[in-house]
Amino acid sequence: MRSLFRCGILVLIIVSFVAIAGTAWTAGIRDTRHNLSSTAPTAPITRNIYSTNVDEICVFCHTPHSALKDGSNKTPLWNHTLSTQVYSLPTGATWPNLITTVKQPDLGSKLCLSCHDGTVAIGSLANLPGPGSTGSVFMVGVSGSGAMPPTAYGYIGINLSGTHPISVPVNNTLITAKNTACTPGSGKYSIVYPPSDPRVKLKPTNNTYNDGSNGFLKTTPAGVNYFEGVQCASCHDPHNNNTDFLVIPGIGTGPPSKYHGTTNWSNWSALCTACHSGPC
Ligand code: HEC
Ligand code: HEC
Ligand code: HEC
Ligand code: HEC
Repeated sequence: MRSLFRCGILVLIIVSFVAIAGTAWTAGIRDTRHNLSSTAPTAPITRNIYSTNVDEICVFCHTPHSALKDGSNKTPLWNHTLSTQVYSLPTGATWPNLITTVKQPDLGSKLCLSCHDGTVAIGSLANLPGPGSTGSVFMVGVSGSGAMPPTAYGYIGINLSGTHPISVPVNNTLITAKNTACTPGSGKYSIVYPPSDPRVKLKPTNNTYNDGSNGFLKTTPAGVNYFEGVQCASCHDPHNNNTDFLVIPGIGTGPPSKYHGTTNWSNWSALCTACHSGPC
């Protein structure tokens, strides 16, 4: 069964790449800061971190051949060297109503953190463009080690304690616990499942809830089955051109906050209420 799942995933991903490469996605991502290539985005987008000699866009994250594995085969043909960092995680100290014991990031969120935790060189790829090339792409705007510098707007770093919980599974056990705690007047929030806006998606996680249970099992006709949870890509799509790559654009003008999720709730309300209902 497992290898069948894997085969299905690979086929789906390859088909998606063939279908999507060179079309709207390229156009969308080209005019963003995720265009790390030597071809500049159209004004007014400005970049600080980019290559001066590699003109391909997808290659900084994806490769059609010899993709990196994170032990799950759920990574989309990944090309960027993964981080081995152990992170500080959200706890009850910063999140008084948090019920889940948050575990280390896994799967999709590790892909984002491979650049955004600032420990891996942005140009460190499994496969360089061109046949058989190895090494690192030279990038401007990076730290001495080639990584995202702490001064960069996009820097998340290795302390995730103030960031919205990620790699947390969503299942009935959690939802029941949230609903039980969400008594009238408590001011707490319950969890909405499935997310009430289709732009917000639960993503694969293999992390388990406090009692050892997995997230809801998501099955698809293509046989791409996984356990559902919250990952970076539940709120962000790294290929779109909304501000901050959000899946639902913000409605407010508040300043960006490193503690995304703790402040400015009203600015991102449509995003938040896709998964949270309340306050009770
Ligand atoms: C800055 C990194 C980055 C770049 C550049 C990038 N991607 Fe992705 N891509 C990702 C990540 C991360 C995911 C996995 C998202 C998730 O967790 O669901 C992904 C997933 C995908 C998927 C799987 C379907 C999906 O939405 O999850 C496809 C197909 C894809 N990318 C195509 C492309 C193409 C084509 C390009 C070039 C035009 C490109 N990507 C450029 C980071 C990137
Ligand atoms: C290959 C490296 C790489 C990967 C992988 C990557 N990013 Fe980025 N990202 C960058 C760089 C470089 C910037 C620009 C940072 C800056 O200039 O401050 C950036 C900027 C951003 C920004 C700020 C937008 C802006 O306009 O400045 C967000 C939000 C973001 N990334 C989210 C994500 C998420 C979520 C993922 C995974 C789904 C991801 N990134 C994966 C390299 C990457
Ligand atoms: C629950 C939704 C949610 C999740 C999950 C989430 N983000 Fe964000 N993120 C936001 C919102 C909303 C903003 C814009 C407002 C702000 O900056 O607080 C943002 C802003 C950002 C920015 C811009 C700079 C900054 O710090 O504001 C980066 C980079 C970023 N996110 C990366 C990530 C990465 C990497 C992950 C996974 C480790 C992640 N996000 C998980 C909602 C989320
Ligand atoms: C994809 C679904 C999803 C989205 C979107 C989302 N959250 Fe969450 N959020 C969760 C889950 C699941 C938990 C873990 C709940 C727990 O264990 O108590 C959580 C936990 C929290 C917590 C700590 C626990 C609590 O109930 O107070 C806060 C605060 C929070 N989210 C705020 C936000 C804000 C603000 C936004 C919008 C920027 C947002 N969330 C968007 C799913 C989501």
